[in-house]
Parts: sequence; structure tokens; C-alpha cells
Amino acid sequence: MATTHTVPSLSLTRRLRRLRTSATMRALVRETRLSPEMFVLPLFVCEGTGIRREVSSMPGVFNLSVDEAVAETQAAAGDGVRSVLLFGLPDHKDAIGSSASDPNAPVQKAIRAIKSSAPNTLVITDVCLCEYTDHGHCGILDGEKILNDPTVDQLARAAVSHAAAGADIVAPSDMMDGRVGAIRQALDDRGHDEVAIMSYAAKYSSAFYGPFRDAAGSTPAFGDRRSHQMDPANVAEALREMELDIEEGADIVMVKPAVAYLDVITRVKDAFGYPTAAYHVSGEYAMLKAAARNGWIDERRAMLETLTAIKRAGADIIITYYAREAARSL
Ligand code: PBG
Repeated sequence: MATTHTVPSLSLTRRLRRLRTSATMRALVRETRLSPEMFVLPLFVCEGTGIRREVSSMPGVFNLSVDEAVAETQAAAGDGVRSVLLFGLPDHKDAIGSSASDPNAPVQKAIRAIKSSAPNTLVITDVCLCEYTDHGHCGILDGEKILNDPTVDQLARAAVSHAAAGADIVAPSDMMDGRVGAIRQALDDRGHDEVAIMSYAAKYSSAFYGPFRDAAGSTPAFGDRRSHQMDPANVAEALREMELDIEEGADIVMVKPAVAYLDVITRVKDAFGYPTAAYHVSGEYAMLKAAARNGWIDERRAMLETLTAIKRAGADIIITYYAREAARSL
């Protein structure tokens, strides 16, 4: 004989599940939305023509000659991504990173080529010496010590050469003291007062930059970057870095990496209310790619969840190697 039982029914005024009943309902009440125009696509520009060499630790990311970088920029625009961040892979490296300000180095050439073929694409340039020095450090050395002020001088020259080539935004990633002010001054002195500065203001000394150093050939020949990049344990210090860079003239501030520093993004956005960028770095990208390639995670979902978390934390701008893939899947 079948047992009858009554369906218990709670009388609840508030049932939060009501707003999760359908995809349309969930979309209606969604608090955080990603959009392609908030993404910045990093590009690694090398010498030569017709070169498109995949970085082994970063599937889907390439070393591109200038012509290929232009093609990639146009393809990105087709996906809705309107901003690129350029890194240079020069043939010539020396102790003081002189090719960082060479008007005919890959980055300067790429800026001119992109601005003439896709004038509406925003060109941002990374300003650092590590890709240009033969020792792979971010500055000028005295023995094993990185000299702050001579490095700042060299960075300002690089930033001016990017602006002269047509860059819209320069992004110093070196973490020397006083570089934002020096770059602002150097730009203004040469009539580039409309070029903005996106400062890598809180850049941590992170293990997650490993694949980037393969891509850019910028692994330091000795030692590490702990004398200038931040200790991962610190957040009050990140706020001091931000405050100084804003005082010195930063227009946009950045936290880097992103996923391991979501709390820093939130604190920075709350404290300053400035346009805030977060860099979803090479190692964070490579981990998702590797897991996806092993069939261990659903890549599309993991990618969108990660980027949504960065936005939810407070980022207005996300620099990510996933820019095109994410834009296409929105
Ligand atoms: C240059 C620079 C680095 C990254 C961006 N600019 C490398 C580093 O500091 O060693 C890392 C970006 C990434 O990992 O995706 N200083």
C-alpha cells in the first residue's frame, strides 16, 4: 500500500531562489557585467616580417612582427577589443637598455603602423627596461644593485619615444620611485600633454610572471625583482604606492597580478575612485590554459568566472591574454 505524505510547505516571505529561476531572470538581476571595451590585449612585438611564433607556455599568445601585430590588432577590433598593450622584443640588448627609446625599435614601429591602419584602436605601451637589457633587470645596474634615478631617466626617454610615435597611453611597469612624475614632466616638456599615464602602481613581485618572461625573454640573469616590486604580503603599502603615483600624475592606476590580489583591487578602488586596471597576468592565464587542455576545467566558464571576479572586485579595465576569446564569448 502506497504511503501518502503531505508536502511540507514553509511560509517564507523571502525566497532568494525566485530570482534564479531562469536564464532571463538571472540576466535581469546580474550585478556585474563584462564588456569587450574594458579589455586590453597585450601583444609582444618582435623584429622582422611575417613572424607569428607561439609562446610555448602561453597557448594562443604569439611573438608578432609589426605586420602581424597590425593584423592581430585589426582582428581584435573585429572581436570588439579596442585597446592593445605593446611589449617589445628587440634584437639589440645592452646593459642600459638603450633600444627602449630607439624610434625604429619594434614597439615604436608598431605604434606608428597600428595608429595609421586602425586609428580608433587605443595604443598603450609598457615602459620598462627588462626587455631591453642584456641582464634582464628592469633598470641600470651598479654591480647587482638597480640604480633608481638613472633608470627613471632612461624610462622617461622611452616613454617620450612612445608618445612621439603616437602612443595614447604609456604604462610604466618598472616600480622605480618617482618615475610617474618624471615621465609626466618629460612628456609635457615635449608637448605630449595629452598622452595619459597608466601606472603599474601596485605591482607585486610575483611567481605568476613566469610565462611572460619566456614570451619577452626578460628573465633576470641573476637575482630577482624583490628590491623594487612589492612584497605579496602587503596592502597598506599598495595604497601608499597608489597615492604617490596619483600625486605624481597617474591617470589610471593598476594592480598586478589580478586574481591573487582581488582584495587589493577593492581597497584601491574604494580608497581613490580612480580608473583602476587589473592585469590578469601570464601565469594566471597559463594555469587556466593548462587545466583546460587536460580536460580538468571548462575553459570558457572558468575564463568568464575569473574575469567577472576581477570586475566585481572593482576593476574598470582588465588587461588579459583572454581579451579576444572573452570578447567573442560574451
Ligand atoms: C615588465 C613586465 C612584466 C610583466 C609586465 N610588464 C614582467 C616582470 O615584471 O617580470 C608581466 C606580465 C605577465 O606576467 O603577464 N617589467
